[in-house]
Order: sequence, then structure tokens, then C-alpha cells
Amino acid sequence: MSQWKISNFEEYQKAYMASLENPDQFWGNIAESFQWKKKWNTVKSGGFQNLDFKWFDGSELNITENCLDRHLSSQPDKLALLFEPNDPHGEVIKYTYRELHEAVCKTANMIKGLGIKKGDRVCLYMSMVPELLISVLACARIGAIHSVVFGGFSAQSLAGRIQDSDCKLLITNDGGYRGDKIIPLKEISDEALKNCPSIENVIVHSRTKSEVKMQSGRDHWWHDLYKNSSADCPAETMKAEDPLFILYTSGSTGKPKGVLHTTAGYMVWAAYTFQNVFQLNDEKDLYWCTADIGWITGHTYITYGPLLSGVTTVMFEGVPTYPDAGRFWNIVDKHQITHFYTAPTAIRALMACDQSLVEKANLSSLKVLGTVGEPINVEAWEWYNEHVGKKKCPIVDTWWQTETGGIMISPLANITKTKPCFATLPIPGVSLELVDADGKVIEGNRVEGNLCVSQSWPGQARTVWGDHERFKQTYFGTYPNKYFTGDGCRRDEDGYYRITGRVDDVINVSGHRIGTAEVEDAIDLLENVIETAVVGYPHDIKGQGIYAYIIMKDAEVNVDSFIKTVREQVTKVIGPIAKPDKIQIVSGLPKTRSGKIMRRILRKVAEGDSKNLGDTSTLLDPSVVTEIVNGAK
Ligand code: WT7
Repeated sequence: MSQWKISNFEEYQKAYMASLENPDQFWGNIAESFQWKKKWNTVKSGGFQNLDFKWFDGSELNITENCLDRHLSSQPDKLALLFEPNDPHGEVIKYTYRELHEAVCKTANMIKGLGIKKGDRVCLYMSMVPELLISVLACARIGAIHSVVFGGFSAQSLAGRIQDSDCKLLITNDGGYRGDKIIPLKEISDEALKNCPSIENVIVHSRTKSEVKMQSGRDHWWHDLYKNSSADCPAETMKAEDPLFILYTSGSTGKPKGVLHTTAGYMVWAAYTFQNVFQLNDEKDLYWCTADIGWITGHTYITYGPLLSGVTTVMFEGVPTYPDAGRFWNIVDKHQITHFYTAPTAIRALMACDQSLVEKANLSSLKVLGTVGEPINVEAWEWYNEHVGKKKCPIVDTWWQTETGGIMISPLANITKTKPCFATLPIPGVSLELVDADGKVIEGNRVEGNLCVSQSWPGQARTVWGDHERFKQTYFGTYPNKYFTGDGCRRDEDGYYRITGRVDDVINVSGHRIGTAEVEDAIDLLENVIETAVVGYPHDIKGQGIYAYIIMKDAEVNVDSFIKTVREQVTKVIGPIAKPDKIQIVSGLPKTRSGKIMRRILRKVAEGDSKNLGDTSTLLDPSVVTEIVNGAK
């Protein structure tokens, strides 16, 4: 247990003050408990003015020594990873810290054998199998930069991400199990690789034994390389600010951003937030985060955070509704999970299913529940609290982002008093500000504004891969010297924070970020489309759904088949997660005289609130609004 672990509210308050008054001393002390090859010269340096912030500069380390080697002397036989397969009767796979260390070293040597060196980019397009987590760590072991692409993305999305960061190696599976489906990952990869000249080699881990084509000279079976690989792999020496990984996320333009995280600050942030938020205090505690490693939650809170903390991390291959909507609860009982971390969208989906499934589960092992990814609604919060936590488990509603590296606002379990739907208070090190549209800081409580962070924290992203200017514009361009999150937020009478959702052109569908421009660009590529406008609207299960307004070129075409084509197109270009839920064919879009689409109006119509459209007098052609309102009905 770390000496910096907070154990009561007073300690939290002290830590919070200390972290902002004297960040060097605060984070310096915390960092002492990690394993370094060389200590830092400065704890925190640079800042938002020149965007040259650095943490633990001058130090040298390898994050995998902290995740693995460090635990070998103290607890080699402790379970590091417990894998629950898609098939409830399939094999549960377990790795002790010793075994995981060995698997990571062998995998690291295997990719090194294909010529991968420090700084090279490796793309991981895999299903949720242990080898994905192992590959992530294997890259980190040798200083290769991992870029995990979620297995639900299309060939085109995969290709775009590989090209953007010039990955040299791709690791994939033959296929991935997802409920009753098999995702043909290798086949999708082959399609993507037609346009990815930077890829020299492909490693294929066999999971589904599906038939795949192997291109000689390029494609290698994981098991062939693995068996001849040595288990001796010294960890590469990394500087504090050497890149650890790239993770693509959507923004307000069509092209996803490669968010870059570096080594030392991310490591300290992942471990600090994991231990303080979740509070695993018993040797027997068992923690399960249901995210996919393809998202930041899976990076920080399935992989790095838990392993840095020496606990057992549970990884689940399947989906919440297979073989039925009781699967999560069965897994909790089967393994006696104590700490359970999931997304509001999963809670809402399971709430809407047969209630007997949750009622017949025991769930008495649970101690702490968590949510992440999107605002949770009161009904879902209450249901989670009553039916899953049996009113005895605190719910940690954790607010953070791909760019923040780890949790920023959250109750600390059993320490911070919770309030339904509130992320509550900032983690030590996080200095929040609410600002109005002009960038003026809003003081006091019972206020609402745009959420900013005014000082650098160790886990923050350092740049957008290959586009530092975009990094600067996106996060620091709106308000000078502040990191702008893109979220709206309320601060209530107790100083508690409640996130109200995105204030930019980003839609949060089932906790996944999708840029409206991305979807518009995909649809606009269709022959029969003149223009598209995409907005989000409230959706019972997904939080937000996607609503597309489309102007067709040839309106004589059969509308039903056209709508089908649009859905297929978005699946092809982005992936099934970005498929519009509703599509409305329109003859025009509400535009200002300067040609800007008035999305506010489109959002209102999509919400079904056509009475409060506000001022439409500045529109070029106000009559389109009437048509759109009538068409929506
Ligand atoms: C956006 C970040 C954080 C990992 C998963 C999503 C929304 C996230 C919460 C929460 C309300 C939340 C925000 C944020 N969000 N957590 N607890 N309450 N909203 O990471 O894909 O980078 O998305 O998710 O809008 O900006 P991401």
C-alpha cells in the first residue's frame, strides 16, 4: 500500500491544498514510491503559456518495470490478470505477476525480432484477449509507441489511424468473439493494409480459428514467433517525456486526433488516481473494469493503473448481453468481484432488460461501483445503487477524458460523500475553473459554465501526434492559458461538480466520442448527397443518438434504400458505432446569411422540441425550418 493513499476526507482536503500550493513537493513525494532508473531534476516545469509543460524531467524509467518487475520480489504469485472469455463455459485464463512478466518479455522480444525499435509506432487492432494487454506492455517494454485501435472500427478508420502515425507493425487477431458474432479482424486488417505502405509486418494472434489469408513475408502467426522467443528482455530506458502511446479520439473536425501521452507523468497519474478513487484496501479485493482496451479507460484502468498498483485486473472478452443480459452479474458472482467499473450506457441497457436477471444474482461481493464516459441520469444512478449495489456500495462517478490520461473529478470511494449524478470533487492536482463564453472565470457556487483546468497535471496529453498546432488550438485556443475540456459543468451549493455534457460539436454515443463532422464527411462522400448536417439528441439507452439531416441530389431515388445506403456508408467509413439512429431527408438546411449551419435549430428539432427554436430571423431562408419541423414529425 502506498504511503500517499488517502484514507479520510480530511486527508483528501489536505492533499488537495498541498497539491496546488506546492506541486513539486507533493508530486515529488508521490513519485518516490515508484522505481526509477534515474531520478528527476525537476518535478514540474513549463506551463500552459508556451505549452512546454513537463513532469519529472531528467528522469529515466520504464513503466513496465513499475507494472511488473517491481512486484516480482514482493508478490510473484499474486494474480495480475484474470480473463473471462466471451463464452460463459470457455476457459478462464489467469496470469500471475511472474507469468505476465514472462509473457510480456517474450512478446517484446518477438516484436523486437521484427525490427521494432524505441520510438516506432505499433498498431494493435485486437479483440479483448489477454494478448492485447500483453502487447500493450510489450511495446512499452521496448519503448515502441502503442496505438490501440478499437476492434469495432472499420477498415478505413483503421487505415487512417495507421497512416497518420506511420505504424510499422500491426498486431491483430484472426477474429474476435463478440457475443454471438465473430468480428473478422484479420480480414478487415487486410482491407485496411491495401493503403498502408508503412506496415512492414503483421502478427496474427489466433483466437477464433477462423480461416484467414496470410501474406507471405508480411504476416506471421503469433504462436510461431512466440514459441521461439526469449523470456529475457531488459526494459528499455525511457526519458520522462518519451512517448508512451497514441490514442485516437474524435474532435470537432472530420479527422480524429492522435492524442499523445508520455511516460513518467502518465504513470504517476494512473497509479495515483486508481488507488485513491477505487480504494482497494483488502488483499482479496478483485477489480473489474468492463471497458475495452481500445479506449482510454482500458489503457489507464484495466492495464496501467491496476498493474502499477499490484492488484488483479479482470478482463472480459464479451458483451453485457451475451448469452443474456445477466452476464455482468453472473461474472461478478462467479469471480466474487468487489470493485466494478462500467459505463452509464451499459447500466441503462441492462435496466431495460428482464429484471429477474439482476434480482437472481447474489452480488454480495460488491463493495464499490464506478461509472465513466458520459453523464449518468438519475434513474440509472438509482437503479445501479439499488439493484446492483444494494444501497451499500458507494458509486464513484468519474469524469475524465482521453486527453486527461486519468480521472480528474470523482468521489474517492467511501471517503467523499456522493450525490446522485455528481462527479463531486477534483482529484488532488486538478485546479478547475468554470468560465463564461468570454473566458471570464465564474466564482462562487450554484453556477454553471464551461469547464477548464488552469494548471498542468502529470497525466495530461502533451500533443496531438504530428499536429501540435491543432493541440494548441483545440485545447488552449478558446481561453488563454487554460485547458478547455469541451464540457459544460455546474458547481452546486456544496462546491460539487456535475458535468452537463459537451458544448462543442462532439456527440457522446454510449460513452464513445464521435465528431459530427466525421459523420457528415462520411455521408457527403455518397454520390447522391449534396449536404449533410449531423447533431446529437437525447437517447434512452445510448445517452445521445445521432440524427442526420441530408439533402439528396436525386430525390426521386427510393428513400428507404437510400437510408440503408447511408447507414452502410457510415459503417464502412467509420464503424457501426457511428451509424445514424435517425435520418431525415430535407431540401435545405437552416443557414445564416454567412452560410453557417444553425445547429441549435437542428438540435432542437431532433430533440422533438420544435416550439422553442429561438430567433430564426437571421436565417437565409426561414422557410426551411418549417419544412424540417414538419418532416421530423
Ligand atoms: C468525454 C470524454 C473518460 C474515459 C471515457 C471517455 C464525457 C466522461 C464522464 C462523467 C459526464 C463524462 C465528457 C468528456 N464524460 N466521463 N463521469 N460524467 N460526462 O473518454 O472518449 O475521451 O470522452 O466523455 O463529455 O469530455 P473520451
